[in-house]
Amino acid sequence: MDSDHLRTHHSLVRAFSSGIDVLDEWFAAAFASTLEQQPFPSRDRRSILHRHRIARPKVPALQDRGVYEDARREAHRSGGGSLMPRIIIYALLILTLLAFLPPVIAANARSKPNSNRPINLIQDMDLQAKFLPQSENNLFADKQSQRPQIVGTVARGETYLDTHFVDGVVDGQWATTIPKQLSMDMELLLRGQDRFNIYCTPCHGYSGAGNGTINQRAMELVANAEGPVNGTVWVAAKSLHDATVAIQPIGQIYNSVTHGVRNMAGYGSQVPPKDRWAIVAYVRALQRSQNATLEEVPVDKRGGL
Ligand code: HEC
Repeated sequence: MDSDHLRTHHSLVRAFSSGIDVLDEWFAAAFASTLEQQPFPSRDRRSILHRHRIARPKVPALQDRGVYEDARREAHRSGGGSLMPRIIIYALLILTLLAFLPPVIAANARSKPNSNRPINLIQDMDLQAKFLPQSENNLFADKQSQRPQIVGTVARGETYLDTHFVDGVVDGQWATTIPKQLSMDMELLLRGQDRFNIYCTPCHGYSGAGNGTINQRAMELVANAEGPVNGTVWVAAKSLHDATVAIQPIGQIYNSVTHGVRNMAGYGSQVPPKDRWAIVAYVRALQRSQNATLEEVPVDKRGGL
């Protein structure tokens, strides 16, 4: 080692130990009261009771902290063995404090919305090569990643050959009867009422007259003096007792429920075929109930009307 190197090395050591001194003083100030309450080490207590008075190291009175501190600092400066453990203690202390940083930074980052892609330490199967909907795939001439159904094929589990049950169509005409799988009874009507009240009443109302709560509200908005919200237009839910609906074969009503009709959305994806037929049966019952004549009511029940 050349002398230059030694000098830098020495000044580094001095800077470091003076840094340690600063920490020492800070701790001494912070824990002064605790230090003062500490008992004498047992080694000193032993000599106090010794029978023969012998020369022993002078123990500075703790009250006289100045002396005590000076002695302690002197011990450090002379490079006594106590310097190393102290460095380690402080290093550990600082490392412990630093260890709190990452979780704090992470918690802070997680608490705020951020448009950046998240840092994903554990990938699992989060990022995979795949085609997102509506994306391009150069493998095909038309570059569509979503492939159309191949003509003349049927997807597994979708062999719907029973057009009466599935489409409401018999021999190319709207079905006029309910499919053979179902029987027109009270159970079917009650199921139909239950489903109708869930899926249809918001617009068509409980009686099917077209005055459901959504319809009422929409009419209110459209009639708003300042004009409809965002230029919205609302096509009123049709009354199911309208002559144009009343004359429809049940297959056609079933088709309206499945695929929707003009401005009404279809319910085929939410309501399975059996329930759709139950709804249609109930719609027929509603239509019958609203257009019944007195002659159709059993004689013994007419008094209650
Ligand atoms: C979100 C509101 C809404 C719901 C829910 C709704 N409809 Fe409609 N429905 C409409 C509207 C609006 C029309 C009129 C559409 C038009 O004329 O463009 C309509 C029309 C109809 C018609 C007449 C079709 C025709 O040929 O004129 C039938 C039948 C019908 N709905 C049955 C149902 C049944 C059954 C349900 C429950 C499964 C249902 N709707 C649920 C809004 C709704």
